[in-house]
Amino acid sequence: MDNKIVFITGITGQDGSYLAELLLEKNYKVYGLIRRSSNINTQRIEHIFNNKNLILRYGDLTDGTCLINILSEIKNNHKDMEKLEIYNLAAQSHVKISFEIPEYTANADAFGTLKFLEAIRSCGLEKIARFYQASTSELYGLASHSGANILSETTPFYPRSPYGVAKLYSYWIVKNYRESYDMFACNGILFNHGGVRRGHNFIERKITLGLGKIVRGETDRLTVGNIDSKRDIGNSKDFVEGMWRMLQQDKPDDFVLATGVMHSIRELIEMAFKLKGFDICWKGEGLDEIGYDKNTGRELIFINEKYFRPAEVDWLLGDATKAKEILGWEPNTSIEELLGEMVEQDCK
Ligand code: NAP
Ligand code: GDD
Repeated sequence: MDNKIVFITGITGQDGSYLAELLLEKNYKVYGLIRRSSNINTQRIEHIFNNKNLILRYGDLTDGTCLINILSEIKNNHKDMEKLEIYNLAAQSHVKISFEIPEYTANADAFGTLKFLEAIRSCGLEKIARFYQASTSELYGLASHSGANILSETTPFYPRSPYGVAKLYSYWIVKNYRESYDMFACNGILFNHGGVRRGHNFIERKITLGLGKIVRGETDRLTVGNIDSKRDIGNSKDFVEGMWRMLQQDKPDDFVLATGVMHSIRELIEMAFKLKGFDICWKGEGLDEIGYDKNTGRELIFINEKYFRPAEVDWLLGDATKAKEILGWEPNTSIEELLGEMVEQDCK
């Protein structure tokens, strides 16, 4: 019986690459969706590219036909499969950029999920497929609206960006297909998570890459946006383990994955820079605020309006009690360890 078959969208992304690695180690046959790009976009999976259990197919979430074709191919190749795990990780995942490309973001991050669920039904796989949807803490958005001070599966949502709104559609359509067609479909409501494979324009990676350039003398500054927002940031490697656990349960459900520890961007900058001997202090206010090294007086951190969002998510702090109790999942990496690993790599 063929039960270790998986189809991953977003396999060239941060989470997709770690998940593919994890499942190849567990002896899965891994099908992955990759996008055509004008240049190589498979750097994160280069080390597993030639694994005989990895099969890559071109496609795009906005193209429902390609999803049907790939699912049909998988069905055909594994006629006796009893279970097909599907992880829908593909998305236009940048919150700020979603304000600039809202329509595309909705096509990929909202309707893409609908197309995928319909493709599963069209291929007659709705009783075999186990579907994981990459939901997000961005659903909570204006978190203080709920009156909560920590966010769980029962906290009401209030998204604050075209990205968050598109992901909210996906959250509900997954729930709806679960209830309407008895599909095994789960939402993983994941709080921020990064690491050494994090995209370069997400804040924690931007900080460690910027620090690396300063240390090597390639630039004299790091320029950022709102340093007073707060995030709960974990390790992508830990989080993909949680995704996998969700699809191994007896029944489908939605789970928060988070570390339960939150820091402001200001604190993240201070923590990362400290690892290279800088003692960052602040002077000035608003857009004129500057972070300088107390030891040398060197001005290193500058603020620029262009990195602010039209609507901000001020804080996100997650309560992963349900995942801990039901999935036995634990975040194993502290923010200090995560930044340490990133600083080490990015300052080489
Ligand atoms: P990421 O590094 O940005 O990777 C996104 C992946 O999606 C890439 O493989 C990208 O392909 C692919 N993709 C983008 N648009 C696509 C489209 N239209 N059709 C097919 N593929 C497309 O994101 P990540 O950090 O790994 O996150 C994985 C998922 O979790 C995303 O859905 C994200 O929204 C969600 N999420 C992330 C976090 C986090 O903090 N990391 C937290 C909560 C939820 P290319 O490589 O070709 O660009
Ligand atoms: N990207 C970025 N760049 N963010 C900045 C900057 C900057 O120069 N300066 C300040 N920030 C602030 C943003 O305003 C935001 O409050 C915070 O840093 C985090 O921004 P991002 O790292 O871009 O992540 P995000 O929280 O908006 O979204 C990430 O996490 C979500 C889960 O909560 C992404 O990974 C999403 O895909 C994910 O769903």
